Amino acid sequence: MPAKSVQSTYGDKIYEGKAKILYRGPKDTILHYFKDSATAFNAQKKAEFDGKGQMNLKISVLLFDYLKMHGIESHLIKQIDDRTFESLSLKMIPAEVVVRNRVAGSLAKRLGEDEGAILNPPTVEFYLKDDAKGDPLVSEDLMVSLFHQKREDLLRMRELALKINSALLVLFQKAKLNLIDFKLEFGKTPGGKILLADEISPDCCRLWDMATGEKLDKDRFRHDLGDLMTGYQIVYDRLIEALK
Ligand code: TMP
Repeated sequence: MPAKSVQSTYGDKIYEGKAKILYRGPKDTILHYFKDSATAFNAQKKAEFDGKGQMNLKISVLLFDYLKMHGIESHLIKQIDDRTFESLSLKMIPAEVVVRNRVAGSLAKRLGEDEGAILNPPTVEFYLKDDAKGDPLVSEDLMVSLFHQKREDLLRMRELALKINSALLVLFQKAKLNLIDFKLEFGKTPGGKILLADEISPDCCRLWDMATGEKLDKDRFRHDLGDLMTGYQIVYDRLIEALK
């Protein structure tokens, strides 16, 4: 549950997802409340982690602020409390946009490749955001011809995703973390501008320690590799250090 002040001041619940609850905010905005729950494999695996909500909120706000300084706008308006931020209300595009710098995860599995091979240039993939279908990988052509997306929107998301990747690679390099891959979501303003939305946190990135190769992201939970919050805390501490 959000802090009392947030509950009483703000509006109705709009949607409850696997890691966040969305509430209507003041002035047609949205409040994103970060839960402690984690899911994997389309919610077949579930657990609660004390403090994950606060941690993912802190990391998302830090990364959105960093991207803003690098000319990339997001839906973030401001942080409200330690589990909630306020955002613009966008018309979400039903795609998960995945940028990959190295082979890992579902790509390694699909192609039977070892994890870690460098992808040069980085690749962008579109997954249809549809839990009932299991968020399938879909070609850009099918996004247009079957799933009603505009070609120009896909091109813009691809362009923004690669720009975000370039900016994040610089920051994570300073933090001595290898940014292996990550997932983004985008939405449209009423004026038709595409903005970065949702969150960017270790729930939706793969981050490996540059020195040791230790996985510090949600793969710790997916594959039982060690305490989740210990990994996320290291990511946060390194980011704070990198930004000094
Ligand atoms: P994948 O290797 O499982 O396709 O995941 C690629 C990246 O996208 C990885 O950093 C984790 C992230 N991701 C999400 O944030 N949500 C999801 O539902 C999935 C499948 C992946």
